Amino acid sequence: MEALEAIFSRKSVRNFTGEAIPAEKLEILLRAAMAAPSAVNMQPWEFILITNRDSLDAMADNLPHGKMLSQAGACIVVCAIPELAHRKLKEYAIIDCTCASQNILLAVEAIGLGAVWVAVYPNIDRIEFVRKFLGIPKDVIPLNAIAIGIPTGVDQPKDKYKPSKIHYEKW
Ligand SMILES: Cc1cc2nc3c(=O)[nH]c(=O)nc-3n(C[C@H](O)[C@H](O)[C@H](O)COP(=O)(O)O)c2cc1C
Repeated sequence: MEALEAIFSRKSVRNFTGEAIPAEKLEILLRAAMAAPSAVNMQPWEFILITNRDSLDAMADNLPHGKMLSQAGACIVVCAIPELAHRKLKEYAIIDCTCASQNILLAVEAIGLGAVWVAVYPNIDRIEFVRKFLGIPKDVIPLNAIAIGIPTGVDQPKDKYKPSKIHYEKW
């Protein structure tokens, strides 16, 4: 039941109070990330946790659609490592890191925080900016920058259930 509550109440939160997030809560999010499934359990991921205000502001200034980072208390950049993925495929690394990202988003909801996935991959300019700014090696792909904060309460979940999207037995 609690899992379903988190799934159905999760929403992209873009309005934060600007307050800091306790370290214990950030650890829970990173534990949730690494609890995600991955192909052949390769876990081809690493995570960069950013709480420094100047760095959050710089990310906000340089990532299109990431302005809310300037009000966030933290940001987790989920990094995909193709070399570590099943069959060393970039696709598996991205899929696995997407699972880890969704775990972060759901855990955020479960502990009363708010978050939004800010796109980095597959935009070349954004990947290059984030790599350079955070010192990420060239064979590592920053997938996103998840802005995390204390929600102001204005963002609400949407009902996106559409029975017409479901096919029974055949397309
Ligand atoms: C791959 C991906 C990239 C996204 N990039 C951004 C982004 O750069 N900025 C943003 O505000 N939201 C971004 N989002 C969040 C979506 O806009 C959001 O999930 C969608 O509008 C549905 O709303 P909901 O998350 O509240 O259900 C992204 C989501 C995904 C999955």
